[in-house]
Amino acid sequence: MDAERRTEHDDKGRWIDPAGGISGGEFAWSQGPPAAEAAIRVENLTAAYGDNVILRDVSFEVTRGEVVVIAGGSGCGKSTLLKHMIGLHPLAGGRVEINGVDIAAAGDRELSLTRQGFGVLFQSGALFGSLTLLENITLPLNDFTSLSPRAANLVARAKLAMVGLAGYENHLPSELSGGMQKRAGLARAMALDPAILFFDEPSAGLDPITAAELDRLIIRINQAMGTTMVIVTHELASIYNIAHRVVMLDKSVLGIIAQGPPKELRDTSSDPRVADFFHRRPSQKQA
Ligand SMILES: Nc1ncnc2c1ncn2[C@@H]1O[C@H](COP(=O)(O)OP(=O)(O)OP(=O)(O)O)[C@@H](O)[C@H]1O
Ligand SMILES: [Mg+2]
Repeated sequence: MDAERRTEHDDKGRWIDPAGGISGGEFAWSQGPPAAEAAIRVENLTAAYGDNVILRDVSFEVTRGEVVVIAGGSGCGKSTLLKHMIGLHPLAGGRVEINGVDIAAAGDRELSLTRQGFGVLFQSGALFGSLTLLENITLPLNDFTSLSPRAANLVARAKLAMVGLAGYENHLPSELSGGMQKRAGLARAMALDPAILFFDEPSAGLDPITAAELDRLIIRINQAMGTTMVIVTHELASIYNIAHRVVMLDKSVLGIIAQGPPKELRDTSSDPRVADFFHRRPSQKQA
């Protein structure tokens, strides 16, 4: 990765690539959201499946360039929060603003443009099984940019190289290990140079060393490109490695019980649920 790449954003929050390469902004926010320090604002978000309320009145912000980890016990609503933040499910209440766009109020076109400004990596990696890695990554470039086939091919190759998969362009996803599939998914999520990346359990199912490599890749991307990241994980080692800040959810309150830098939460929180999580202690209920 080019360490010289600057991590600047223009007044519309779009990432500026000094080399003149593609940037999320060229096609992501042609309407232009107002300049904002916060890349993401979640205000009083309520999420429910039918009558079953999972999260109530959840509010937090993610600053541009920040890596925020959403943590908490199984079933507390981490994936639910992520899916509602990116507009996969309609909100039962509150609002989510991404790069200045209220995603619930946005029209189809504005929503589609906003979505192009962020990348999403779910646990499955979301690659098309019948397409090669190169084809998988070229797809969004063909769909959303006016790059020539040759340029799209070059960009896709560069993305694969960035995640350490140069030489695997013509492989099918099924021909890769789990860690390689995760990295290919990351390359695809980054195809359009999004200013924001959302991950759900990026290191689930990986061995500790592969997981640590993925953490390093995440940190490199954040530092080199200033990419804002929202990452759901309960892997403590990952949390200490990658998180600038942790937003911790708990089922008992249908929302946030703590937020702050991970080591600070570990060392200073007086909430036993938070301390138990950071010290890997079974909770009172489970004990
Ligand atoms: N599509 C859905 N329809 C109905 N209920 C759902 C749906 N998705 C999740 N839930 C419920 O919402 C609650 C929170 O689930 P969610 O997947 O958000 O938890 P999580 O914190 O991501 O857990 P894990 O760490 O196990 O992935 C659970 O009780 C789950 O059964
Ligand atoms: Mg989940």
